[in-house]
Amino acid sequence: NIPSLAAAYAAYFPIGAAVSPEVIRSHRDVLTRHFSSVTAENHMKFALVHPEPDRYDFAAADDIVAFAQANHMKVRGHTLVWHNQTPSWVFEGSDGSPVKPADLRARMREHIHTVMSRYRGRVYCWDVVNEAVADSGEAWLRDSKWHAILGPDYLRDAYIFAHEADPDALLFYNDYNECEEEKREKIYRLVRDLRAQDVPVHGIGMQGHWGLVRPAADDIRRTIERFASLGVQIQITELDITLYDWQDRRTDLRTPPPEWLERQAERYGEIFAIFREYKDVITGVTLWGVADDWTWRDDFPVRGRKDWPLLFDTAHQPKAAFWRALP
Ligand code: G3I
Repeated sequence: NIPSLAAAYAAYFPIGAAVSPEVIRSHRDVLTRHFSSVTAENHMKFALVHPEPDRYDFAAADDIVAFAQANHMKVRGHTLVWHNQTPSWVFEGSDGSPVKPADLRARMREHIHTVMSRYRGRVYCWDVVNEAVADSGEAWLRDSKWHAILGPDYLRDAYIFAHEADPDALLFYNDYNECEEEKREKIYRLVRDLRAQDVPVHGIGMQGHWGLVRPAADDIRRTIERFASLGVQIQITELDITLYDWQDRRTDLRTPPPEWLERQAERYGEIFAIFREYKDVITGVTLWGVADDWTWRDDFPVRGRKDWPLLFDTAHQPKAAFWRALP
């Protein structure tokens, strides 16, 4: 008798999963039974919905939204302005020269308006800007093309355009390594400064690509409290727990070592207990995948290496981690 994860968490927050049309087809049972929210793992990103200046392709994103609606699931939008998965034409003039700042700003506005308007009322929140902060040891803001061409004001503009496009959508800033002190403080400062200028940023997405050891429980708590002190809501947007130590580069494992799975179960238990403690500020927890047969971790950081970072195994059965994650 397997309880539904989403039903068990109904009094806390929606439980989401990153999906694609293929994942929906191949994981329909587990998805509809255990999840109450979806995010497009790739199919709402700039390169996929807007591959050429005058061409949008919403077929896959539409399928995902239709599936969610038919199954009474929420949809998180991911993502509008990112340094990755953005076609090169965005940053080029028609003759291949660098785009003029005013033209790039207009392209950003047009893209945000077109995508958000299409899903108005169906996508309740958006990761408007993703990963704009630099990694540790580097400058404050990432040296992306958006930043290089438009300067730091591109952040403010993105949120203002998003709010124009859908005044009811909740607008998030989303990032990784969010529990490391230096990065946490950079994210904090970014959102604090935007809100001090009355820019509509309503939430911070903590991606949650975590490991068996790090980040420590105390760092997760500290991060949630620090971000929540800004008066924004928090969502865990891309949760998964790799079985590998961050320095481990082996590629030969075909089955997960049982002691690693046990440790992962403890970790999921600890992490979900923290989320429940902060249920007043956490308004969603999304896993970056449904089951261990389909995970971006299989290609990262070592291409083609098998990982088992989710709550359901490769046969879509609940893992020990699933049972420990239950309230
Ligand atoms: O669709 C093509 C396929 O046609 C081709 O044969 C294959 C060969 O490599 O690539 C396929 O595209 C891949 C795509 O995922 C779909 O599987 C891309 O190469 C690959 O780069 C892409 O990776 C995605 C990654 O973002 C890109 O940076 C992952 O699926 C996706 O999980 C990942 O998600 C990001 C979040 O958006 C932001 N936070 C970090 C997170 C994990 O990196």
